[in-house]
Amino acid sequence: MAERKYNLKKENGTTLPGKIKEFIDFLEIIASEDLKAGRKKTDQNDPMKRILKSSVDLRKVLKDLEINNDKTENSSLEPTDILDSLLNHIPAGIAILEGPDLRYVSINQMLADLNGLTVKDHIGRPLKEVLPDAAKNLLPIMRKIMKSGEAVLAREFSIKLPKAPDKEVYLKDYLFPILDEKGRAKGIGAIVFDITHTKEVEISYEKLADILEHAGEMILITDRAGTIEYVNPAFENVTELQSNEVLGKNPRVLKSGKHAKKFYKEMWDTITRGKVWKGIITNKKKSGELYEEEMIITPLKDMDGKITRFVSSGRDITERIHIQNKLQDSEERLRKLAVHLQNIREEERTSLAREIHDELGQLLTAMKMDIQSLMKSIPSDQKALLEKTNSIDDMISLSLSTVRKISSDLRPAILDHLGLMPAITWQTEEFKKRTNINCKLVLPKKEISVDNERSTAVYRLLQEALTNITRHSNASKVKVRVAQKDNMVILEVSDNGRGITREQKSNESTYGLIGMRERVSQWHGSIEINGKKGKGTSLIAKIPLKLLMESK
Ligand SMILES: Nc1ncnc2c1ncn2[C@@H]1O[C@H](COP(=O)(O)OP(=O)(O)OP(=O)(O)O)[C@@H](O)[C@H]1O
Ligand SMILES: [Mg+2]
Repeated sequence: MAERKYNLKKENGTTLPGKIKEFIDFLEIIASEDLKAGRKKTDQNDPMKRILKSSVDLRKVLKDLEINNDKTENSSLEPTDILDSLLNHIPAGIAILEGPDLRYVSINQMLADLNGLTVKDHIGRPLKEVLPDAAKNLLPIMRKIMKSGEAVLAREFSIKLPKAPDKEVYLKDYLFPILDEKGRAKGIGAIVFDITHTKEVEISYEKLADILEHAGEMILITDRAGTIEYVNPAFENVTELQSNEVLGKNPRVLKSGKHAKKFYKEMWDTITRGKVWKGIITNKKKSGELYEEEMIITPLKDMDGKITRFVSSGRDITERIHIQNKLQDSEERLRKLAVHLQNIREEERTSLAREIHDELGQLLTAMKMDIQSLMKSIPSDQKALLEKTNSIDDMISLSLSTVRKISSDLRPAILDHLGLMPAITWQTEEFKKRTNINCKLVLPKKEISVDNERSTAVYRLLQEALTNITRHSNASKVKVRVAQKDNMVILEVSDNGRGITREQKSNESTYGLIGMRERVSQWHGSIEINGKKGKGTSLIAKIPLKLLMESK
């Protein structure tokens, strides 16, 4: 450790505490000047701050020492030890160079480490030899200082040090002459700070600022109280307010009057609790025009978790909302049209079914009666004539049943005359007959009273489901269940066929399932279709029987 002694001390040693004091004074001056120069005050790693603190503490030690020195010669603390300790605990690199070739006479551990060498590597050797690269730059400056006797303070520069040649290190140094009694420079004192961290923070601040300036999003930054500190050009563009018109003001300048007090209170409560607020807000431009902003407000906190600022970023979604509304409107119109068409189709089917059944049916029945009375008046020996009229009678019977079938396929009279449950029973029976598929029907014990229109909906749902089973499922068993629960009529149809796939379910080119969904949504109901490969398909449709609104 001996080599780290303060080699420039005066021979008698008595002035040493005074020297230390001068040294501390010097540190304090540069530290406070540096702070005044506007270094980021929030940076906890600021070496200057640490120096200020430690130099104040050291001053206390020094005071004790001076008192001790005054009072007793037998102080156990050697001034050189004090200086030694001071040099090695100050968070700065310190070196003293002496003589025309600027040899290191003293260097503290920190600077030796920074140079990537030991203290020993420096002592007694000229700068040019120890740090050949850095010397190219440093020597001319140091020579100038030696000559002029004037210090060069707060020089900032970046350098690649031998220990990590790939990494750029930012340093700040204070170079000052050490004068003899006659005022001539005998050597140079150097204090070096590694400001890489601070510099990197500064650079990332600059980058951040650049990003904010060019961001497409509107950015607004306020202090803890909500006073605007920054807005970016995107904000200026949308709001038509220039930054100088809003800085120092409250974001209230954007208030549209479209939200209740509660809305703003909730927002403020959220962010002051340290939480992020997200939402869509209607704001006002300078011209008075309103715009919709999708906004996120994030509270920024310091190291103690205290909120320091609020950053709001947002985008103008007025156009998007406009398009969305238009889309919704047109979807709504299309849906209404679909419902309307379905209703018309149902009405037409009903009247067509009735017409065919009544008109054609009656006509055929009359024909049948006529032919039968004709048959009676034909003599029994007129075999050929009798055969002909018999055949006509058979054809009329066939036509009658065809008419009945066509008419009930169009719309079963049973639905209108007897209601949903009998119609479903009839429908499943027909299905069984037609397909030979085993079909189990479960009806509620108590009759559900379903109005005509909803009955039609349920009936058509079952019809489409059964048609799909016939066409696509390859099933051998089908179960149909109708039930009532929570004021809803529930239709369940399941089969044990191949199972509908996810893609088939969302197929946009077929209309069976789409029609089912439309029918259900018309009554504010729901439909769920599930398929399991090889296990079958199930469909559950729920239709509210009467909405509260309707019963009013
Ligand atoms: N029970 C089922 N089992 C297996 N696949 C089914 C079943 N029901 C429907 N699918 C599949 O879902 C697809 C869509 O049914 P959807 O009823 O919408 O159309 P579609 O019956 O093919 O034609 P349409 O528009 O005439 O009804 C069908 O093409 C079929 O592949
Ligand atoms: Mg279908």
